[in-house]
Amino acid sequence: MSDDSRPSPATARAEARTAVVIPAAGRGVRLGPGAPKALRALNGTPMLIHAVRAMAASRAVSLVVVVAPPDGAAEVKSLLDAHALPERTDFLVVPGGAERQDSVKLGLDALPPDYDIVLVHDAARPLVPVDTVDAVIEAVRDGAPAVVPALPLADTVKEVEPASAAGDPEPVVATPERARLRAVQTPQGFDRATLVRAHETIIDNVTDDASMVEQLGLTVVVVPGHEEAFKVTRPLDLVLAEAVLARRRLNDGF
Ligand code: C5P
Repeated sequence: MSDDSRPSPATARAEARTAVVIPAAGRGVRLGPGAPKALRALNGTPMLIHAVRAMAASRAVSLVVVVAPPDGAAEVKSLLDAHALPERTDFLVVPGGAERQDSVKLGLDALPPDYDIVLVHDAARPLVPVDTVDAVIEAVRDGAPAVVPALPLADTVKEVEPASAAGDPEPVVATPERARLRAVQTPQGFDRATLVRAHETIIDNVTDDASMVEQLGLTVVVVPGHEEAFKVTRPLDLVLAEAVLARRRLNDGF
């Protein structure tokens, strides 16, 4: 084969297969006592199943790796088996780790070789629309090493000096210009080799995967997020999520 017949990097990326890693191993303590957050029900279906379906709704996604609570992999596997999921998508379940970062790394380690694009999606964002998933994949296919869906902020954000004793007032140290800030969601999309390198190199505790790629000195780009991609964190978020599902059912004509 001559060099000319090899696909260009852009063509190779356009044809790349896409896998999603869903970290779902957190306890979700801010939601109150009960089952691990990903296994809480929304309208009778576990949040994790909603999140898996949201990812599998994209025709570009052919594998979903669910990272389960360390002692809950068997339970998560039977949950996936018990719910209808698209036939074109494969599913894997692996046990997670102590921190979100450890769980994502364990999911990445389980990926078969033939996937060049990886999305990382929080189980705690069960309602992300498929258009957002596709927009993230598209931007990685177009050549970005890392892509995040994001929204402008409604609130002004202050940076504070954390209080030294509980209950003490916290002094404000800065007010970043709101128009330049974005609230970042998932799924975040990556060139697989870049994300693997980030997880091997960066050991700081981070709250998202894209910030590890930023620390490698690479450019992370933003695509429009969606208000329905919010993270279910506090009890009120469960009420909002069920309201979104009820509205969808009405709109779908059920
Ligand atoms: O705690 P937070 O809401 O930031 O968690 C985001 C996602 O990371 C959730 O889907 C949670 O299940 C997951 N996670 C994990 N392993 C941990 C902690 C959190 O997979 N050790």
